[in-house]
This record gives sequence, structure tokens and C-alpha cells, in this order.
Amino acid sequence: MSKRQSLVAGNWKMNGSLESIGQLVAAISQGVSEGTEAEVLLCPPYVYVAELAGLLEKTDIRLGAQNVSHLESGAYTGEVAPSMLKDFACEYVIVGHSERRMLYSENDVRVAEKFIAVQANGMIPILCIGELLEERESNCTEEVIARQLDAVIELAGIMAFKAAVIAYEPVWAIGTGKTATPEQAQEVHEFIRLRLARHDHETAEGVRILYGGSVKADNAKQLFELADIDGGLIGGASLVADDFLTICHSVR
Ligand code: PGA
Repeated sequence: MSKRQSLVAGNWKMNGSLESIGQLVAAISQGVSEGTEAEVLLCPPYVYVAELAGLLEKTDIRLGAQNVSHLESGAYTGEVAPSMLKDFACEYVIVGHSERRMLYSENDVRVAEKFIAVQANGMIPILCIGELLEERESNCTEEVIARQLDAVIELAGIMAFKAAVIAYEPVWAIGTGKTATPEQAQEVHEFIRLRLARHDHETAEGVRILYGGSVKADNAKQLFELADIDGGLIGGASLVADDFLTICHSVR
């Protein structure tokens, strides 16, 4: 039996309105209050963080953000500092999501800087890593994962992973309806844990590694049953309360 508590995180991406998120949170918090083994986290767009902080206050659901600046303050138009997220009770921040890496040119070093900034402000980074389809097809998956992971270990140190979460998200599975098979996912999750264990065994055993990429109500259970999968980072299905709740209830 694993000692790691499962985490199910909803990443709403750039979706929702003030009205729709109110309804979504009401339905999700009702379902979660009826009991779940998982720790449940919601990551709304920045502008709704304050609203959610209020809505989630009397629930067991945690609040997170989808991105953050690596800097503390200053003339950086359009950016949001980690301390601002902390002000609104955010406990987690996603860093290095593949959409940030690909569409906004965030490289491994920038992602590592964000990871450090999140921790420096007393929050937990959820570090996303994952390979592109062509990288998988040319057998480079482990090389890519190792590079993305090593960049953070190098800058933040292995002990930083005692207060961090990792999300393995194969880019070809995100928003495509094409989920990694449980075997493919478990193989990479185990690789990630072994890579960390080269530096510190205990840290590697303790860190939660989520799977993300087309997790749905009907495939979550098979994924969450695997030894090194400690929950999920959920995009599309987190926008539908019933689906998200089914996923939360699928943890071992
Ligand atoms: P998806 O997104 O569940 O819609 O594939 C997952 C993610 O991008 O975190």
C-alpha cells in the first residue's frame, strides 16, 4: 500500500465564466463533501482565483493556479507574482505545462525558476513534464523526461521535491482523447521515480506523480491503480462536474 495520498487536480485552462464556475464549484464541492479518498484541487484562470478562494473556503477542496511569474514584482506587464497567488490562498501552482512550453516558449530553465519561486512563496509546484509524439516515436521519451527533470533538480536541488508534485503528461495525449495505455504511463512514472532515487531514495518514494492527458471518467480507475501513479491532472473532464467527481472517486 502506498503512503502517498492521491491528488486529483482540475486544470480548467482558459475556460469558464463567473456564472459557469459558480455552478461547477457548487456541484464539485457537493460531491467531494460526500467523501473521497483523494485530495482534490482546482486550478481556475487567474482572474477567478479570488472568487474561488471564497467559494472553496468552507470546503476541503484546495486552490491552485495554472501558471505564475518567476519574478517577485516590477515592470512586467501582464504577469502575476507568486506572492499574489499566495495572498488568495493558493496552495499549488502548475509550472511547465506543455501548452506554456510550446505556445509561450517556456524552456526548462524558466520552468525551474518558476518551480523555485513557487516554493519560495510557500506553495507547492506541480511540475509538468512529457514528450511530444515524434519524440515517443523516435524512442526519445526517457531522454526528454530526464532532461526536463534534471533541469529542475540542478537548479532547485533534489530536496525541493519533498514539497513538490510531478505531472507526467505525454503531449500527444493532451486534449486529444488519446490516453497513454496504463503500461505506457506506469513505465514513465517508474522511470521518473528511479531518476529521482539516484539522488535521494526517500524523496523519490515520497513524491506524488500524477498522470495527465485525456483522463476521463471511464479510464481513470485503471490508471490510478498502478503502483507509481498517484492521481491525475485533468483538463477537459474537469469542466464537467459528474465526470470530474467520478475521476476523484476512482483513486485507490
Ligand atoms: P486533458 O488535459 O485532460 O484535456 O487532456 C490535461 C492537461 O493538459 O493537463
